Amino acid sequence: MTNTVIPTYGRLDIAFTEGKGAWLTDINGNQYLDALSGIAVCNLGHCHPAVSDAIAEQASTLMHTSNVYNIPLQQQLADKLMQISGMNQAFFCNSGAEANETAIKVARKYGHDKGIDKPVIIVMDGSFHGRTMATLTATGNPKVHDGFSPLVPGFVRVPYNDMDALKMAVGHWPEAVAIMLEPVQGEGGVRIPDADYLADVRTLCTQRKLLMMLDEVQTGIGRTSEWFAYQHADDVLPDVLMLAKGLGNGMPIGACLISGAAMDVLQPGNHGSTFGGNPLACRAALAVLDTIEQQSVLLHVQQLNEQVTSGFKQQLANIDGVTDIRSFGCMFGIELAIPCAELVQKALDKGILINVTADKVIRLLPPLILTTDEATKMVDLISELVIGFLANNLAKSEV
Ligand SMILES: Cc1ncc(COP(=O)(O)O)c(C=O)c1O
Repeated sequence: MTNTVIPTYGRLDIAFTEGKGAWLTDINGNQYLDALSGIAVCNLGHCHPAVSDAIAEQASTLMHTSNVYNIPLQQQLADKLMQISGMNQAFFCNSGAEANETAIKVARKYGHDKGIDKPVIIVMDGSFHGRTMATLTATGNPKVHDGFSPLVPGFVRVPYNDMDALKMAVGHWPEAVAIMLEPVQGEGGVRIPDADYLADVRTLCTQRKLLMMLDEVQTGIGRTSEWFAYQHADDVLPDVLMLAKGLGNGMPIGACLISGAAMDVLQPGNHGSTFGGNPLACRAALAVLDTIEQQSVLLHVQQLNEQVTSGFKQQLANIDGVTDIRSFGCMFGIELAIPCAELVQKALDKGILINVTADKVIRLLPPLILTTDEATKMVDLISELVIGFLANNLAKSEV
């Protein structure tokens, strides 16, 4: 049979029909613990009733008009996002890549407004920003670039979590207008920078009049136990903040928030989107934010972090071949000494959904509403899997 879907994804041979909380059911009725949340999307679990009800009600009232008219729900969502982020204004779109595209346009326009003809954006090794031409160029992974040259000009790259390299690049590029980075690199392998890194980047941006552009597509909306990861640092507010994934809990919606030096850069006619911020998507996002607040989800994430991190450390820290155990809120990375992509299928066979990124890092992004029992189950299943895998494969790899 001809495949009528372009085969851009390496898909696992499974399909799901239903989801509830942290659990998915496949077409044969088997249940799986979802430790990935659709890659940091279903933060409130699958089909959270508050979100599903809001969507159902809005779908039967008004789904879409156009951005040529006022959209009160969009205004309401923008107000709420400003309240929790400390930012000033939002542009709404449909995905993380689009939120980042918006940021890139803000940076370039900011440069042009200052008389810089060829603005340069500084980006990071190991980053992931999306699959459109500009965002894949910004992405620090050669595999994502392969076959798509010529890439978009105006990006230079430095090592992540290296202030000296960043300062050198800023000194070297007088056309630099912005620094774009993730507060924790998710796709890059759950890489957590030094505690003062974000504050130092903020200071550098302020001193050199560069926009600090934080890609919180994966880390935002409670994933790290604050609404946004920069809120863990003192006195850090980005100029541009990019969001998507967890904002809609499965309803596609992205946002680019601005403050400080990024204000007043985009003017009427500079940017737009047909679907961006339509009533249906905004209603879903409002329900997500209200639920996180009402159910004290941020506090729960902190507790989950402590439980899961200590569970993994107890079971895995002394195992040969486990080189690191990292966590930040509900982002967990277990790094092994050997490539371990095959663990994804092995985990599926045991009834749990996981991800492997950067070849050797098991990445877990469970729903933020995971119960204590489910968290214990996740730690036990993954630990058993890792121990068995290393026992069978570590020695072979050393031969
Ligand atoms: C940090 C980050 N930025 C951007 C993106 C791209 O988002 P989307 O796939 O919604 O375009 C992702 C997706 O994984 C991401 O993790």
